[in-house]
Amino acid sequence: MKVAPASRIKGTIRLPGDKSISHRAALIAGIAEGLSQLQNFSTSRDCQSTLACLQQLGVGVNQSPNNITIEPPPQLRAPAEPLDCGNSGSTMRMLAGILAGQNFSSELTGDESLSSRPMKRIIEPLEKMGATIQSNRDRPPLRIEGTSQLKPITYELPVASAQVKSCILFAGLNAKGQTTVIEPVVTRDHTERLFNGFGVSIENTGTTVMIDGPARFMGGQMIIPGDISSAAYFVAAAMLLPKSELTIEDVCLNPTRTEFVSLLNRWGGEIQTSITRTDRNEPSGTIKVMTTEVAHSSNGPLVIDKDIVPSLIDELPLVAVVGSQLSGVEIRGAAELRVKETDRITATASNLRAMGADVEEFDDGLFVNGPAKLRGAAIDSFGDHRIAMAFSIASLVADGASEISGASCVDISFPEFFDLLHKVVEK
Ligand code: S3P
Repeated sequence: MKVAPASRIKGTIRLPGDKSISHRAALIAGIAEGLSQLQNFSTSRDCQSTLACLQQLGVGVNQSPNNITIEPPPQLRAPAEPLDCGNSGSTMRMLAGILAGQNFSSELTGDESLSSRPMKRIIEPLEKMGATIQSNRDRPPLRIEGTSQLKPITYELPVASAQVKSCILFAGLNAKGQTTVIEPVVTRDHTERLFNGFGVSIENTGTTVMIDGPARFMGGQMIIPGDISSAAYFVAAAMLLPKSELTIEDVCLNPTRTEFVSLLNRWGGEIQTSITRTDRNEPSGTIKVMTTEVAHSSNGPLVIDKDIVPSLIDELPLVAVVGSQLSGVEIRGAAELRVKETDRITATASNLRAMGADVEEFDDGLFVNGPAKLRGAAIDSFGDHRIAMAFSIASLVADGASEISGASCVDISFPEFFDLLHKVVEK
């Protein structure tokens, strides 16, 4: 994919449903009582993996453009074949929590990238609850011997991970008594909001989350707000290109996901958000970016540390790109980036260097000097959707066009990315 420099961004867009919310809404609907209807469901390949796994477990899924209906069976059934989670860590980790509480065995597999990602973080708590899990040295495939007699646990997460927290809460639905998860730092809270929204009470006191099992959801309707992690690329482009005017309607404004917007505002951006509705406890609304001229903060590089890393985790490659255009950025406490769809620290550093930036890599992050003049270059997506999209935005602000290899991986979270970018970019 060739991406040429742009002069500004102008337009009003709406985005397909948030990926994190869509995964959870589908899983909840798949084990609820009664039908559910999910509008503006994510079009991502990852969420299709979740739906396909649910179908193999006996869940009825009917898809029409922009709308899916989910019909849960009285009980999930043992899958005849391994459940293919594709590239999706969320599918594997959250579904494992549900499968741990079923009276059958099942196998979870994934593509090459997912097969190299760490799973000990879910194997350990699920085994404490009474499931038996075989793995390939703590990596997929996972063979899960479930049991309907799970035991409740109190578990302190060794890494801040919403996927792991959610896995344990899904398992807690089938454990008799109180399951408690304690996080080192607050992570996205969609599971807590949606559990409460679909009729299963969760208590949440900051970093401690509790569920009383056994419990079952009531199915229903939800309009899923636009994906804020997808919105971030457009917001960044509009902030960096002078005289841009961008409005994004009905996008997720859950406070555990909006740190990127706050960060850009701390960096001199003028980005307004306003909540217009709340559905199943998830707030959503409008993001408006108006740029008169690029604001360069003069206070030296911005420092991002472990306390805010979880609320920016998927935006960090983009934060590094934005930092290169402003006063520089130092990202620390983000070793988790090395075990995402690719090693995002190395991928970000090597692409920024290819474009002419000065970057230092650490075990747990990176430092990007700024402001830097980027030049068009050959960009490697490393097969990672977030790298492909972050460097498409870098390409818009560079001198000369860039060629992004393997750019079709944007399908993993945002198949419409290049079409929408084309729609709002002015040359
Ligand atoms: C997600 C949590 C994060 C994030 C991922 C989606 C979720 O992963 O990177 O894209 O929906 O819970 P971790 O839980 O591994 O931090």
